[in-house]
Amino acid sequence: MSLHTALLTGRAGGTVFLAGMVPPRKEEMTMKLKSKVALVTGASSGIGKAVTKVLNLTGMRLVLTARREDRLRKLAAECRNAVYHVADIADPEAPAHLINRGIDAFGRVDVVVNNAGNMVAGTIDELDLDEMARMVELNVTATFRMMYTALRHFKSLGSGQLVNISSILGTKVRETAGAYAGTKHAVEALTEALRMELAGTNVGICCVEPGLVLTELHDKWDVHPRESLGIDPPLAPEDVARAVKFVLEQPEHVRIPRIMVLPGAHRI
Ligand SMILES: NC(=O)c1ccc[n+]([C@@H]2O[C@H](COP(=O)([O-])OP(=O)(O)OC[C@H]3O[C@@H](n4cnc5c(N)ncnc54)[C@H](OP(=O)(O)O)[C@@H]3O)[C@@H](O)[C@H]2O)c1
Repeated sequence: MSLHTALLTGRAGGTVFLAGMVPPRKEEMTMKLKSKVALVTGASSGIGKAVTKVLNLTGMRLVLTARREDRLRKLAAECRNAVYHVADIADPEAPAHLINRGIDAFGRVDVVVNNAGNMVAGTIDELDLDEMARMVELNVTATFRMMYTALRHFKSLGSGQLVNISSILGTKVRETAGAYAGTKHAVEALTEALRMELAGTNVGICCVEPGLVLTELHDKWDVHPRESLGIDPPLAPEDVARAVKFVLEQPEHVRIPRIMVLPGAHRI
């Protein structure tokens, strides 16, 4: 094999393909997704709910989780093949229970969309420190536990894809939102280090970095960032869900470590 051919040699779905051969078509990648099982955290609203709906359309089997059972039950019933597991993801045992739920229902978990999160913001004088500590517990500790638990399962399978829903504030900062940005920077740092550890395996890891998305995240805010930051229109949750699907559709030799999705009016 010439050096040129070797450089153009890749692997898709366990199949080696060479320069000159046709890479997998979009329909083939969608067929590949159809056989897979995805766990979506924070599936009861916003981005997690939209990801669930988009993945459901690919035919993937789904494990849905959040704390609000009524919402999970309704969403699972709307999907072709989904089970749900009610959990507070900050419970240290939750990540392992969730992977086991997927194994019990479908024999494996191929994809984890690590999405559950919260945002508290405020000035030095206003920020509620107990709320901030709970956010760190959720956005960092619970998210890290889910990451390691998912990756250990994927390594035992020999393949898998972890998608962390980070934020534009995982790469930048904004005054009054520094603590939230710190939690997302932490997710980005761990993702990058794990990506290096996973090089040469069939396990992928990625951060999706949305700008402002219209979800329940800012419901308790006095003024929505749409007005205070002039971001109009914000993203719809479906805009982020399409990016997640794009990551999952790639052949196995392709890695997308990060993907930023911003509203057109987001000046950041
Ligand atoms: N909206 C934005 O502008 C934006 C931008 C960038 C990144 N993000 C990130 O996107 C992710 C999803 O947020 P969203 O905007 O879709 O907000 P959302 O509508 O408030 O959804 C948050 C989800 O997380 C779940 N959740 C929260 N605390 C939980 C806990 N302790 N245990 C289990 N589940 C929990 C919620 O379900 P239950 O309440 O039912 O448990 C809900 O399903 C977050 O990580 C957020 O940081 C959002």
